[in-house]
Formats: sequence, structure tokens, C-alpha cells
Amino acid sequence: MRHRSDIQPLLEFAIEVAKQAGELLREYNRLRPRQVTSKGSAVDLVTEADLASERLILGRLRQHYPDHAVLSEEAQGELPAQGPAWVVDPLDGTVNFAHGYPVFSVTLAFFQDGAVQLGVTYDPLREELFWAQRGQGAWCNGQRLQVSATAELGRSLLGTGFQYDRATNPDNNLAEFSYFVTRTRGVRRGGSAALDLAWVASGRMDGFWEKGLNPWDTAAGQVLIEEAGGRITTYSGAAWHPRVRNLVASNGVPAFHAALVEGIRIARQGLPPLSAPYA
Ligand code: IPD
Ligand code: CA
Ligand code: CA
Repeated sequence: MRHRSDIQPLLEFAIEVAKQAGELLREYNRLRPRQVTSKGSAVDLVTEADLASERLILGRLRQHYPDHAVLSEEAQGELPAQGPAWVVDPLDGTVNFAHGYPVFSVTLAFFQDGAVQLGVTYDPLREELFWAQRGQGAWCNGQRLQVSATAELGRSLLGTGFQYDRATNPDNNLAEFSYFVTRTRGVRRGGSAALDLAWVASGRMDGFWEKGLNPWDTAAGQVLIEEAGGRITTYSGAAWHPRVRNLVASNGVPAFHAALVEGIRIARQGLPPLSAPYA
């Protein structure tokens, strides 16, 4: 356990590093053409900006916190159950970035003994800095965040995403998508799960679901949403941790969260049941 005063310097560090990495991403975003490499399929990409942002963040972490564990998307590493650890996505929204679609972010979170304590997600194009710390609320550019109060599916705006193996895996979110897209005001596919979660915390979307996410996509979002009054569970409505690779995030209104979980259950009838780490 760490005291709040021990966390404050970590938060200030995370904010500074996220802004620096965001500036770097903004500079790379001006360059054309982009250097894009495939990580195994035509949709799973890495750009020089992912790698440059990661070099910057990991360099700063090594310099300031050499004894902290790090799990970062491209360099990997580990998220241990004990001790201090950082989880980093140096560029969330790589496909958007590769195409010049202006929705991407950099996101990092600090864990103590396996539990996320603070999270920072920076949107360099809108210059929106989202941060949250356990017990200190969720914030964006000095404004406190609050989830929406929407209680009905029919009045809601949702977000989702589709995992990279969607062309070959029949459990590819199309059943869930068609259930919700016909019962809500809309379902957005932003392309940066970290921003999607920050936007649920901000009340811009009422809920979000996705399968196949990794801790670096979701850890900052967990503390943002929970500190803004929302809720995250697994697809079946059980307690969630960033290691679990599916999630339902919402404004926390009990009937609304239940409607999301129930919608997923109905939509998934006929699909094989999920097992760990997807359950
Ligand atoms: C991806 C984005 C996307 C989500 C994918 C993620 P990346 O992260 O968050 O919105 O649908 O599942 O992998 O690859 O751009 O860092
Ligand atoms: Ca990501
Ligand atoms: Ca990434």
C-alpha cells in the first residue's frame, strides 16, 4: 500500500511523460508518408511513432524509477502481482495514426501490488489530458470528470472495438455490434480504446464494450471511469481487472450496466463460452 503523498510525484511524472510523448506523436503526425510495418496481419501495425514514443517513455521510466517493473505494448515486459509497476501504451490507435485519421492517444498507468493506482491518457491532437488517481477523482485539463446519467439503452451512445483477428475468428464482436447498433442512438468505433474509456469517464459516451484488449489499453481507463463514478465489469458482470481481456464499461447506472451485460449475453448465444483470460 502506498500513501496518497507517495503517489503524487508519480502522478506528476506520468503527466509530464504523457505530454512529452504526445508532443512527439503530434510531430510524427505531421510527417508523410508514414513508416508502417505489419506485426503479423494487414491490420496489426506498428509505426516509427509507436517505437519513438515507447523509447521516450521507457527511457524516462528507467531514469526515474529503475526498480519499477514495466509492461509496454511493443517492448513487452511484465506486470507483477507484487511491487510497483507501470503499464504503457505508447500509441493507442495505431491504425488511425497510420492512415492520418486524427484519433489516437498515449496512455500509462501505475500499479502497486497488482492494483492500478493512477492513470493518464493524453490526446495530443485535442490537447486533452485525462488523469485519475484513486480517491482523488478523474480530471481533464483541470475539470473534474463525471460519467453520464443515461439509464436507457435507447437513449445511449456506446463505443466498441474489434480485435485484430476478426477476419479469422468467428467470435469477432459482430453479433454484439448488431445487437446494440439497432437498440441505441449509435455505436462508435473510435479506434483508441484508451480514449474510448476516457470518453466514458467524461460522459461523452454512456458505455463501451470490447473483447481482446490488453492491460496497456485499459488500465488508465479503469481508474478514470471508476473515479468518475462509472463501473467496469467482465462481459458476465463479474469483477474486472486489466488482465481480463474483455470488458463492459458504463456510467454505472445499475439498470444501464445490467442492460449492457444482458445485451452481450443475448448477442453471444450461439458463440462458444469465454474462458480465461477472456472471461
Ligand atoms: C488498439 C486500439 C483499438 C482497439 C484494439 C487495440 P493499438 O490498440 O485500442 O481501439 O480496438 O483492440 O489493440 O494497437 O492501436 O495500440
Ligand atoms: Ca492499444
Ligand atoms: Ca499501441
